[in-house]
Amino acid sequence: MTSDATPAPFPERAPGQQSVADLAFEPRAEVRIGLIGAGARQTSLVNSLVPVPNSTVVAIADSSAEAMVPITDLLAERGQPAPDTHAGDDATAQLLARDDVDLVMIATPWTSHAPLAVQAMKAGKHVAVEVPAAVTLQECWDLVNTSEQTQRHCVILENCCYGRNELLALQLVRAGALGQLLHAEASYTHDLRKMLMETKSWRRQAHIDHDGNLYPTHGLGPVAAYFGINRGDRFTRLVSMGSPSLGLQEFRAATVPAGDPRHDEVYRAADINTSLLQTEQGRSIVLQHQVVGPRPYDRRNQVVGTNGIFTDYPPRVFLEQDPTLEGIQGDQGDGESGHGEYREIDPYLPEFEHPLWRAEGEAALASGGHGGMDYLMLLRLVQTMTEGTVPDMDVYDAAAWSAPGALSEESVVGGNVPVEFPDFTRGDWARNRTGMP
Ligand SMILES: NC(=O)c1ccc[n+]([C@@H]2O[C@H](COP(=O)([O-])OP(=O)(O)OC[C@H]3O[C@@H](n4cnc5c(N)ncnc54)[C@H](O)[C@@H]3O)[C@@H](O)[C@H]2O)c1
Repeated sequence: MTSDATPAPFPERAPGQQSVADLAFEPRAEVRIGLIGAGARQTSLVNSLVPVPNSTVVAIADSSAEAMVPITDLLAERGQPAPDTHAGDDATAQLLARDDVDLVMIATPWTSHAPLAVQAMKAGKHVAVEVPAAVTLQECWDLVNTSEQTQRHCVILENCCYGRNELLALQLVRAGALGQLLHAEASYTHDLRKMLMETKSWRRQAHIDHDGNLYPTHGLGPVAAYFGINRGDRFTRLVSMGSPSLGLQEFRAATVPAGDPRHDEVYRAADINTSLLQTEQGRSIVLQHQVVGPRPYDRRNQVVGTNGIFTDYPPRVFLEQDPTLEGIQGDQGDGESGHGEYREIDPYLPEFEHPLWRAEGEAALASGGHGGMDYLMLLRLVQTMTEGTVPDMDVYDAAAWSAPGALSEESVVGGNVPVEFPDFTRGDWARNRTGMP
């Protein structure tokens, strides 16, 4: 097949649909927020939202009335106005029918994210949705198509993009300090065995229903920012492999009483899933998911260029031409850097600390929320909505970062075959445009 005959990796837009790539929010003095889902995550998001200027939680919807109590208590303790609460089967419909909600923030189990986001956009609301934004490719397209039809934004709540180390790495990339970009590594490495077995049955269900990378965005979102994904580059292909699935079974055998129905469950998801992604610019990415097994938390967060490496956990830098070293290691350049050593990030902070962390770092750290990243994410979301600018992350990002969930499963189930990424921007990935600050 010649390249002329290669089908475009996207379906045509339906009549009336328009790109939202450059769509600015309508400016407003205040952002009135409706919450869908009032579980552990939404409670911690609200905790980080309280100090964000010009934002108010006006309403909460959860199928369970009881679930909303921690959030209403928290808001009362922090001197905030009491939000209206909607409970039961039509809680979401009631919240979406309100005319005093500008933004709907969704933090519910994964399989409900995309359907709820679509429903909210169709009700005329902008949406911020927890990760992953979608669990199937059809859902990724549903988000894109609905955002384009309704001209409402669907922002993915990928807090890791706002981490201090991630934004330091982004500044190193933007300054050209790493040279030309070649490769990145990203991971979600978090021992969730106890949570999976004891408290989050919907999350365990995903290990029964699926194989592949169940939670790709925490590692991939920051890497997408480094590579300018949807802003000069795009993910093109993925191939994925899984390890044996053993750890959850072992943990169950050790902790769950005999006769419990959980003993009948079969966990398909590999303990460790590893995907290799390629980008249109020829760069490679190793993306991992490992939530079953004893190990310290890690997101890998590595980016490699022709002049060196930023790598995390702990954060370290190695540059051949190093602007902070003036001619020691900086002039090495002898092609034998194997004896060199990584440096800690402190010497890089005066020049490369991200402006958001310089300006808001103190408030971010004071707010708690995953080391301040939650506060900065919500601050930027509210700022872009009040200023009437383009969001840092849009529906094309939500779709591209979530798609490896379904694509990795397709690759694994197909015998580790390479699978093509859809181009959710429909050919509009190559230009530089607004993204992370
Ligand atoms: N970004 C992060 O750092 C981070 C951290 C933790 C969790 N999360 C994400 O947040 C989401 C929620 O996780 P959680 O730990 O809070 O779960 P949870 O089980 O504690 O809470 C989910 C809540 O959603 C409600 N709910 C379920 N379906 C609903 C529906 N259709 N309409 C309205 N309410 C509904 C439930 O009653 C429950 O109160 C997940 O997607 C998870 O991956 C993200």
